[in-house]
Amino acid sequence: MSLENIFPFFDKIIPQGDKERFLKQRAKVIWFTGLSGSGKSSLALRLEKELFIRGFHSKLLDGDNIRSGINRNLSFSSEDRVENIRRIAEISKLFLKCGIITVNGFVSPTEDIRNMAKEIIGRDSFIEVFVNTPIEVCEERDTKGLYKKAREGKILNFTGVNAPFESPLDPTITVSTENKTVEESVNEILEYIIPRITY
Ligand code: ADX
Repeated sequence: MSLENIFPFFDKIIPQGDKERFLKQRAKVIWFTGLSGSGKSSLALRLEKELFIRGFHSKLLDGDNIRSGINRNLSFSSEDRVENIRRIAEISKLFLKCGIITVNGFVSPTEDIRNMAKEIIGRDSFIEVFVNTPIEVCEERDTKGLYKKAREGKILNFTGVNAPFESPLDPTITVSTENKTVEESVNEILEYIIPRITY
């Protein structure tokens, strides 16, 4: 839709820096990408708890949760995945502008999709965490039973089975969940982000 009759006033609202001073933290978007079952949600949940314990104010945004609410009208077609991530990036930006750290867990399967999110949010505010769990391991875990359904042809467009997943080319952090505990991986992530969110 055209923005011809729309008059945004972004320059007049209280700046992010003032909100960050108020909250005594620097806001970032911590974006987990990886296959379904790779461990994104477990890492995001644990990371948010660790941030909370350390006095940081954050919001967890996760694929299955967002898709049961604001994005419940979207499918897993490639167009709808773009729209899913576009909305999530815009929502993350709203939190960012309020000085709040978001911890995001979305498959976000392609470079184009992740680049769109980075452009919306701003590259300096975007911390990309690649949860690098091989598909064989995700499928073996099959915590939600979705790989089985996808192999049986009961789910079309399932990421890694009959829809693409492109590994990030240059993620900020890569975590391997195969030979590390959630706690160990989260500690690695904390080591990187704490200096960047501390006021
Ligand atoms: S994304 O590709 O648009 O970024 P998103 O992270 O929101 O995906 O949602 C992924 C979650 O939806 C998965 O963890 C899984 O539980 C569920 N899901 C259901 N159908 C599919 C599908 N076809 N492909 C991937 N995930 C699916």
